[in-house]
Amino acid sequence: MRVFEVIKGRRSIRKFEKRLIEKKILHKLVEAGVWAPTGGNSQTWVFIIVTDSDRIRKIKAVSPGILGIPSALVVVCQDKELAYKKGGELGRDVSSIMDVAMASQNIMLQAYDEKIGSCPVLSFYKKGVQTLLNIPEWIVPELLISLGYPAESPEPPKRKFGEVCFFEEYKSANGR
Ligand SMILES: Cc1cc2nc3c(=O)[nH]c(=O)nc-3n(C[C@H](O)[C@H](O)[C@H](O)COP(=O)(O)O)c2cc1C
Repeated sequence: MRVFEVIKGRRSIRKFEKRLIEKKILHKLVEAGVWAPTGGNSQTWVFIIVTDSDRIRKIKAVSPGILGIPSALVVVCQDKELAYKKGGELGRDVSSIMDVAMASQNIMLQAYDEKIGSCPVLSFYKKGVQTLLNIPEWIVPELLISLGYPAESPEPPKRKFGEVCFFEEYKSANGR
């Protein structure tokens, strides 16, 4: 598929088939993640792939943002200690979050290309996920990505390209 087609075709999927995702595909998705750019080439993320249905159920219990029953989750974390060592406060507090977002989008686009549905999930209890996955305190889960073969094909929410894109300078349309 062409990149623009993948970008426009990806949807947040919240209903999944029971079918499992092969391990090698899951690895490929995370590999797509690590090819994302990072601030100062810091590469301080940590990705935890969860496929055990019991673990997923427990993570769901502390994550109101996970809808449906995904076959897998990628927990995208940041090693905050390392991010601070490499980039100071800006690295730890700003760049590291952007790096998570960029890697996550790569993962979701690659998933779509593999016919796998995905949904980014920010609404979850970080401490709970750390405890369930044995993650030390300095490695912070920043985003969950639910994955599974889609059991729905939602309409795309409208985009407002004309209202948010300007050439050369900002032009107020409504006095703001
Ligand atoms: C930072 C971020 C956090 C999100 N958190 C959640 C979430 O907790 N639960 C959820 O179902 N969707 C979540 N979403 C998905 C958005 O609702 C979705 O991207 C948006 O409605 C646009 O739909 P689309 O992804 O199909 O284009 C999140 C998206 C982003 C970028």
